Parts: sequence; structure tokens; C-alpha cells
Amino acid sequence: MTARPTVTFAKLAAPRKGTAILISAEEGGLGPVARECDPAGVFERAFAAADFSGKLGSSAEILAPQGSDLDRVAVIGAGKASALDEQTWQKIGGAAFAAVRKSQDVSLVVEVAGAEAGPENVAQLAMGLVLRSYSFDKYKTKKDNGDGKPASDKPAKIAILCANPSAAKKAFAAAEAIADGVILARDLVNEPANILGPIEFAAKAKELEKLGVKVEILTEKEMKKLGMGALLGVAQGSVRPPRLVVMQWNGGKAKANPVAFVGKGVVFDSGGISIKPAAGMEDMKGDMGGAAAVTGLIHALAARQAKVNAVGIIGLVENMVDGNAQRPGDIVTSMSGQTIEVLNTDAEGRLVLADALWYCQDRFKPEFMVNLATLTGAIMVALGQHHAGLFSNNDELAERLYDAGGATAERVWRMPIGPDYDKLIDSKNADMKNIGGRYGGAITAAQFLQRFVNDTPWAHLDIAGTAMGSPATEINQSWASGFGVRLLDRLVADNYEG
Ligand code: BES
Ligand code: MN
Ligand code: ZN
Repeated sequence: MTARPTVTFAKLAAPRKGTAILISAEEGGLGPVARECDPAGVFERAFAAADFSGKLGSSAEILAPQGSDLDRVAVIGAGKASALDEQTWQKIGGAAFAAVRKSQDVSLVVEVAGAEAGPENVAQLAMGLVLRSYSFDKYKTKKDNGDGKPASDKPAKIAILCANPSAAKKAFAAAEAIADGVILARDLVNEPANILGPIEFAAKAKELEKLGVKVEILTEKEMKKLGMGALLGVAQGSVRPPRLVVMQWNGGKAKANPVAFVGKGVVFDSGGISIKPAAGMEDMKGDMGGAAAVTGLIHALAARQAKVNAVGIIGLVENMVDGNAQRPGDIVTSMSGQTIEVLNTDAEGRLVLADALWYCQDRFKPEFMVNLATLTGAIMVALGQHHAGLFSNNDELAERLYDAGGATAERVWRMPIGPDYDKLIDSKNADMKNIGGRYGGAITAAQFLQRFVNDTPWAHLDIAGTAMGSPATEINQSWASGFGVRLLDRLVADNYEG
């Protein structure tokens, strides 16, 4: 991974050397401090000549003219000062990083004419900058900047010049904890399956112990004892044994029931005997995006010392084709005691989650459970890649998730569930089958999960379209987005802390 830029905070002042990044509003242009480094208005004329208007997302760059001690000056558009919100500040940060790349000695003047840049805003900007700087290039022996030109391996050094640097630094500590969680999730999803199997993933989760998280790793033997026949049936075709990881962050009141997050962690999904077509199968290294988000979330909560008791449970398996692989028609018994007829071995995520969800509610009696899974192609047909599918048995939880999605731009869209859909997974030979009919594939998958949550308030997020391969944004240029970490951190922060 590209070295993270080093970010420092200092007093708002006109920079005198190196690269200066200024922010310009759509109306109002540069603020007074930025104008100080440009007393003759030379930069402003150059920006205008480059057709720079201050529109959000736009930028322009000039080599500093004679008479200035600066080397380079870049300007980032902030859009309308009155429309600046959290996400806009993050986007400005992303654009600022894109403008400087690996430059050393960068000063970013955080000042927008007509708007105040409080410490929280500065923290969001810095978070956008860090998230944009992420790139999965650890396997490239020759690093480049994405433009074919060789990159320096020195990280960018960026001083953020702002009104209240010590308050901004403090606010950034929490924002950085969240960014680190997002980056951890991206790394896990981007990592190829030959490197990241269930055991290796579990070891990554174990590293959260450094942050004070309690981490237990259940082996195949222990899962057998618990009767997790659904999860184990998926795993049996792989030479790499499954793991179930239980992470506990106890930052809340001693007796308070935890909130719980459960993730699908299929490190590679070949489809099993119901094998997938070859084209695009490589993307199935990311079929652990739910587990990655849960791990990233627990990292974020622990790193920012969230005042909440939270449990993260991830089911880690590999779905392979093998002489010992499970067959279509097999009937397995889940930990809940319910039997499942496996009609399609490629509908494996729900089998993994069935046991993980049941175990979670049975052991922890959580306030609620939210599970995340790259569960169905059908959710992409329904919603595209800009919303995750939200399915829930609880309106309050669903609304809170919707609101957290709006606040973080990790948007979710509620889908229906109900008895009519539930009937579609009844089976002739067992309590249920693992696929529905031709239509409503994302919904029948959700109905299946609901049969394993008991009476627990629950929501399922189908992130097949948003966790990977999603369109690049101002704060993510990588295949893996880390979707879910910011969303669920916000759900917790706004509703379940203190
Ligand atoms: N992991 C896939 C879903 C998926 C597809 C995620 C594409 C991301 C991108 C899941 O295990 C799967 O194979 N689902 C099947 C279900 C079907 C067999 C009922 C699907 O969506 O086709
Ligand atoms: Mn599958
Ligand atoms: Zn899958």
C-alpha cells in the first residue's frame, strides 16, 4: 500500500515555500489568507485563465511565477460555501491529495470565503485526504503514480493550516481511527485469495487485540461441536479449514447488552459444484467484503475508544470444487436445528451466515444484529452500485441505518421482506432450501437469513454492488471501497454511545 501522507496541523497563515494548496469557493473566490500569498492577484488571474470556477471537484495548478517563493500553487474548488457539508469537506480533501500526490513540503490553506472551517470540518477534510491516498500497490515491484511515471516512495508531507490546529488535531484522531478501519477493510478485500485464506484472515483479526479488542478464533472442531452444519458444508470442499472469529470491543457500560455485527467471509467463491462461469470469477476474492467491513468497523470503534459494547462475528470459509465438496441436493443441519436442502452450492453465503447469526444471538443476546454480505448478484440488478440493499425486521433500526447512510454517503435502500417471499424457500425435503425461484433473488436470500435471527432486531445489508468494483469517487480510487465501516460507525456514534 502506498505510504500514507504525513498530516500535521498548524496555524492558518499564508505559506511562503513549497507547494501551496488553496481552496476557492464558487462565489467569493479565495479567502483573505490565501490572497496574502498572492498580493498582486497573479494566481487568481492564472486560475481564471485555466477556466477554474471553484466548482466542487474542479482544480487547477500553476508553477509559481517569478517573485513568489512558492514552487507550485494548486487550487481546489469548494463549490458553494453555503452547501458545504461533511461529505463536501471530505471531497475537498480527496481532491487536495490528488493535486499533490507525493510532493514534499505541501501546505494546505483551509479557508473558504463565506464559510467557517471548524475543527470537525478540518478533520473531515484530512480524512478525505487519507482515504484518497490509499492504493493497493503492494504487489507492484515498480511503483508509479497511476500515470506511468515512477513514484517516489516517500510519503507526501502535508501541513494543514487552519484556524484552530489543536482542536483540529483532536477531531482528526477519531476521524483517522475510522479511516484506518476503512483502509483495513479495503486491504482485506483487495488481497488475493492465495494470500488471504480463512486462517490468514483470522490472524489479521487477531491483531485487533493490540487495540484492546478481545478476539476468539473458533476452529472446525469447535464449530462441529456447536453443530454448525451449514457453515461447515460450504467449507468442506476446500483444503483450507474454516474459522469463525468473535471480536469484542467493550467500551460501554459493564452490563449493557452489546450491539452486534456479522459478516460473510467467503475468501473465495468458485460457486462450488454449481460452479460459476470463468469470466469475472477473479472478483470472488472479494466475497469476504462483509467480514472485512465488520473487522474494519471493530478496528474503528476500538481505535477511537467508542463508548459502546460491540461484537463482531465473521464466518470465514472458502467455497471450492472438490471430491469432498458439498453437492446440490445435500441436506445439512444448521446450529439452530433447522435443516437446509442445498439446491445450489453457489448460494453459500447465506449458509455461512445462518450459523454465524444464530450463534451471535444465542451467545450474546445483542441489542440488534446487522449483517453485511456480498450476498447476491440480484441486488446489483435491483439497485445498481450506488446503494446497498437494506432488509430488516425492525423499522427503527432500518431508519437509523438509512440516516447513517445519508450522513456518510454509504447509502442504503430498503427492500421488502414478508411471508409471501418467505414461502418461496420452503422445501419438499427439508425445512428450507437455499435458493428461491427465478425472481426476487436478493429478497429470498434475505428471507433465508431471517430464519436464523430469532426475535432479535436485525438488518441485512447486501453489499455485493458497493463493496467492490464500485465506481471511483473523490475518496476512493481502489477496487475495494471498504463500504460499511463509515456507515456502521456512524450508526453506533449517533444512536448507541454514551
Ligand atoms: N458471492 C455471490 C454474489 C455476488 C455476485 C457478489 C457478484 C458479488 C458479485 C453469491 O455467493 C452468489 O453466488 N450468489 C448467487 C445466488 C444464486 C445461486 C441463488 C447469485 O447471486 O447468482
Ligand atoms: Mn456464491
Ligand atoms: Zn458468495
